[in-house]
Amino acid sequence: MDKIVIEGGKKLYGELNISGAKNSALPIIAATLLTDEESIIENVPPLRDVASMLKLLKTLGARVSHEKEIVRIKPSRNLKYIAPYKMVSTMRASFCVLGPLIARLGKAEVSLPGGCIIGPRPIDLHLKGLQELGVKVKIEGGYVKATASRLRGNDIFLGGAFGSSVLATGNVMMAATLAKGTTYIENAACEPEVVDLTRFLIKMGARIEGVGTHLLKITGVKKLHGVRHRVIPDRIEAGTFMLATAMIGGNVLLRDALPEHNGVLIDKLKTIGVTIRKHKNSVTVVKKTRKLLPVNITTMPYPGFPTDLQAQMMALMTVTPGISVITEKVYPERFMHISELNRMGANIFLEGSSAIINGTKKLSGAPVMASDLRASAALVIAGLAAEDRSEVHRVYHLDRGYYKIEEKLRDIGANIWREKE
Ligand code: EPZ
Repeated sequence: MDKIVIEGGKKLYGELNISGAKNSALPIIAATLLTDEESIIENVPPLRDVASMLKLLKTLGARVSHEKEIVRIKPSRNLKYIAPYKMVSTMRASFCVLGPLIARLGKAEVSLPGGCIIGPRPIDLHLKGLQELGVKVKIEGGYVKATASRLRGNDIFLGGAFGSSVLATGNVMMAATLAKGTTYIENAACEPEVVDLTRFLIKMGARIEGVGTHLLKITGVKKLHGVRHRVIPDRIEAGTFMLATAMIGGNVLLRDALPEHNGVLIDKLKTIGVTIRKHKNSVTVVKKTRKLLPVNITTMPYPGFPTDLQAQMMALMTVTPGISVITEKVYPERFMHISELNRMGANIFLEGSSAIINGTKKLSGAPVMASDLRASAALVIAGLAAEDRSEVHRVYHLDRGYYKIEEKLRDIGANIWREKE
């Protein structure tokens, strides 16, 4: 296993490229199963989660390749219908093969995705939506066993205790593309990744209206086709580098970053005193020596503040003098990074699903343990801002979702490298 070693305190200057969005690529890869024709997906970084998803598609009977960030997938005419535990348990997005498999085969057995360090992650909305399309669902031996003679369009409300669901919207929308009749999904998620998946499906021949809104109208078609598509830039990777620059100081141009996908983050950064310049397909972040101001943040579904940037925002607040409050309304237990940030000298305590951060002037380097993907990113940027040396252990979490993060940071001046444990 690898660890990331950081000698903190070096400001960030230069330019870097943002990779394609992992959370767009994963459901789009699942959507390719809706046809037996070949699809080509560009701008897909070779991340661990992408490799896991492609392995699952191979197991289901697709021919796959991934070279130079281009994925080619040719699903077989005789797809298998079982998505095994070993694969689905490692990554929740793989549960998204359920919608396409049931739509194509009328039968699917997909392992339940299981627990997660960021808190409970139920699948009730996925199942509710599919059942309302006419799918019969049994849970047996840790698997969702689904059958349907013909999917039928319906009016489906997809809201849970924490609002809309990104992957449930994707799963149900994919199934509805091949259903008989019209489906309305109310309270659909409208994250840019859902929009990207919707555009992919429309290119395949799906009839979907209301793209990017909370109400999707899907008119079922008989057949979909293989297509070519370029995945959108990763707004969470871009946001992570924006927060790193804000925390450490410097002047960084992020190429291939769409400012409109990070509206709320940009607004918060401006409020606290960071200079942001928005360009068409890029963003410049400038942080001079001026002190930043504390801020209150509440995570919410898009266009609210993304839960996937909560940990990194918290890292920034630890060195922003004053009291900041971050309330987590998407995953109320997603706070594993607090104890590790406190080990670096931060002063954070948890009150229900709110973290109260008493900003200090400096963090001090320490060995810390990554618990999940975004917590790992928060610890890396905290290490870059801290005095002396930090070591972030269990970086396999980081490799699930950030492509060459240490190389990209090195290119803009950070003193960071990877070592074998
Ligand atoms: C997606 O997960 C992302 N994953 C997550 O990114 C992200 O944190 C999350 O959306 C929220 O933006 C991928 O796209 C692969 P949800 P998803 O269903 O779709 C509750 C990362 O770090 N819920 O939108 O699984 C759920 O518990 C990852 O890249 C139900 O109650 O999340 C949560 O409170 C982590 N029932 C809320 O909805 C359900 O059936 C939103 O979750 C489904 C979800």
